[in-house]
Amino acid sequence: MAPHLHEVSGPRSLRAHAAAAGLLVGCAVNPRGLDGEPAYSQTVADQMNLLVAENAMKWGPLRPTIDTFDFRPADDIMDFAARHNQQVRGHNLCWHEELPTWFASEVNKGNAKEILIQHIQTVAGRYAGRIQSWDVVNEAILPKDGRPDGLRKSPWLELLGPDYIDIAFHTARLADPHALLTYNDYGIEKDTPEDTIKRGDVLMLIRRMKARGVPLDAVGIQSHLTAGDPMPGAGLRAFVRECGRLGLQVFVTEMDVNDKKLPAAVEERDQAVAKVYQDYLTMMLAEPNVTAVLTWGVTDKYTWLDGPKFGRADGRPERPLPFDSDYQPTPAFFAERAALDSRAARLSAPVRQGDPYAPFRPGSARGGAAGPQSERQ
Ligand code: XIL
Repeated sequence: MAPHLHEVSGPRSLRAHAAAAGLLVGCAVNPRGLDGEPAYSQTVADQMNLLVAENAMKWGPLRPTIDTFDFRPADDIMDFAARHNQQVRGHNLCWHEELPTWFASEVNKGNAKEILIQHIQTVAGRYAGRIQSWDVVNEAILPKDGRPDGLRKSPWLELLGPDYIDIAFHTARLADPHALLTYNDYGIEKDTPEDTIKRGDVLMLIRRMKARGVPLDAVGIQSHLTAGDPMPGAGLRAFVRECGRLGLQVFVTEMDVNDKKLPAAVEERDQAVAKVYQDYLTMMLAEPNVTAVLTWGVTDKYTWLDGPKFGRADGRPERPLPFDSDYQPTPAFFAERAALDSRAARLSAPVRQGDPYAPFRPGSARGGAAGPQSERQ
């Protein structure tokens, strides 16, 4: 039987539980849902204290032509978040995908640097002071492209060489000194040979960035996981700790759990998906420098995973998110909430020597990861 909504809203919501643990919890959103679908907007408002635009802040949607920007959908998300006392992540300022159709014909080695800088100044500048963190560069590593530095042969690399990364971060820092500047990537979670190699290349990239004095504050681990795959473990934990030693926060930025390897029965799928949420997030949230968790969407109704590329062979809809397509909480919701509680439990345990959570506690000098404590309900 479906749980009643009062069991999961207000003080029982994800955002209330996250705030009690000094954490941010959020999801990717689409402005059309926020404006036009009450069940969607209410769930997002009730549950989240951090939003990220699923697409609205990417180059393609933002820039219909080289000279024009369409900020309306992104502005709508900013307004919604402000009305509901939510913070916003920016996603993203530099990526090889979702580039506008004019990009290939208009951008060349002669003007690429200027266009990248102008884009970041315009977009990060517009929202300056209102963004918790920016994904400045997204998915720059791809070991199978064969370069010793692991960099993906993206249009940006072809146009500007490896410098494009430093250019993007320096420009973002100047445009919005308050946002935590983030490097975001996928396929670095598991202990498989493929993920281990890519994680090593990401670590090499961020170590070198820090050594060069590039303004980098955080690493985003996308966390698109698949139930039935090997679970992330020691390798990722060591990576997160190394990020901590480098002074970097870590965000789980795009979590969802693909159920395509599971049989059709919904209950079986939901239990397996929930177990991935619980085990993964409990592991991650044990690390003090992991301060935010976002899912890539809130409702199964709009998951990007459906369809031939990522979805199930039997064509049934995927169930990868904390709310199902009728906005009922799934077992994944309760698993995510329990993982947030596991962090709160660690915060209240007696401190022996040195408190690793100190900078991230609610009410600490930084105000805790969740910022103003008006969240407590
Ligand atoms: C995806 C969106 O969910 C889709 O709607 C869009 O068509 C393609 O992009 N990694 C990222 C996200 O950083 O921006 C991607 O989002 C999913 C993978």
